[in-house]
Amino acid sequence: MKYDVKDIGLSKTGAGRIRWADKDMPVLASIRERFAREQPLDGVRMSACLHVTAETANLARTLKAGGADLVLCASNPLSTQDDVAAGLVEEYGIPVFSVRGEDKDTYYSHIQSALAHKPNVTMDDGADLVTSILTENTDLAPNIIASMEETTTGVIRLRAMEKDGVLKFPVFAVNDAHTKHLFDNRYGTGQSVVEGILRATGILLAGKSVVVAGYGMCGKGVTRRMQGMGAHVIVTETNPLRALEAAMDGFQVMTMDRAAERGDLFVTVTGDVDVLRGRHFEKMKDGAYICNAGHFNVEINIEELSELAEDIVRGVQKEVDEYRMESGRSLFLLGEGRLINLAAAEGHPSDVMDMSFATQALTTEYAVKNKDDLQHRVYSVPEDVDRWVARVKLDSMGVEIDTLTERQIKYLQSWQEGT
Ligand code: ADE
Repeated sequence: MKYDVKDIGLSKTGAGRIRWADKDMPVLASIRERFAREQPLDGVRMSACLHVTAETANLARTLKAGGADLVLCASNPLSTQDDVAAGLVEEYGIPVFSVRGEDKDTYYSHIQSALAHKPNVTMDDGADLVTSILTENTDLAPNIIASMEETTTGVIRLRAMEKDGVLKFPVFAVNDAHTKHLFDNRYGTGQSVVEGILRATGILLAGKSVVVAGYGMCGKGVTRRMQGMGAHVIVTETNPLRALEAAMDGFQVMTMDRAAERGDLFVTVTGDVDVLRGRHFEKMKDGAYICNAGHFNVEINIEELSELAEDIVRGVQKEVDEYRMESGRSLFLLGEGRLINLAAAEGHPSDVMDMSFATQALTTEYAVKNKDDLQHRVYSVPEDVDRWVARVKLDSMGVEIDTLTERQIKYLQSWQEGT
């Protein structure tokens, strides 16, 4: 079996972490049991490009249990858990191509190794596999049954491909499922971003002015958690509806030009480029911390930050670089501008990834079952999948909910009754 991991000797520790995560992933575990019996992915060759974490390992085990012949590579050079990668190879027989801290060339060569598997189903977190297939590996496109996409940034890329008419196979926007973005993006990102910042800096959040750029689901999660820790939260937005929502949720909303002067800590979570750039760095306070929680490391313009700096001291703390400005101010960049929750912490907790990855597994099954009816479009996750995952998650939490009576169902379906 071909693979590339940092140290295969780490496999026992990795396997322990995979089992530890599994105890908080009951929905995925129940799918795994059924998959093992029914083999819905029998004959499927899969390549997955995801953050290589203990939670992803449990998804990989589930897909394999369902009959898929699966290989895995990283969707970010800094998010791989090397022991988990080794554990997947050694204990579960799943080839992995990823090493934490790999350079850009290695990152892309690992994507090529995953594609050398000649998949007929792919799974992405950021659309790198799909992009590679549509640009460099076009020979693979005719065999692809479908591709699943995990994150907002990836879905944006896929919709742009659909609009430009270049999609060559069906793709599923798993990110947009309710059981994904309402929970993973909000509670998962919210908690793990705070954790990443605290692991990297150890700062007290109470009383700090925290500027959160972007008030999508992830931004909503981060602002709430920061508020809960006692921070004064400022939101910046470009979308008037989201800005209004943030204002009415009780946050201060202002332009980044104004927020730049006030913030002690900046978190970008917009999915767009240059959210923090030269003119903002020039206004920031001495000692400000800067980090990104969006998928790609493009939200903070590090080139402009470097140009403004007289001196850069790498690793003043683990995952912290100090940029010393000519004016004598220092700005601290966390996690090299890569998503802080995976660069400086372990990503979202297993409990929330349970829902995201249960949705991934069931959508994969749906795509394979319905392959003859799918077109080269961006599809939503079937509503049944969303409802099933929500219901089983509630069961696992011991939460019971009410059932509509016959009369209530009839009332909701009628328009004559009720005035
Ligand atoms: N994305 C965010 N957190 C993650 C995790 N724990 N595993 C995989 N992907 C993630």
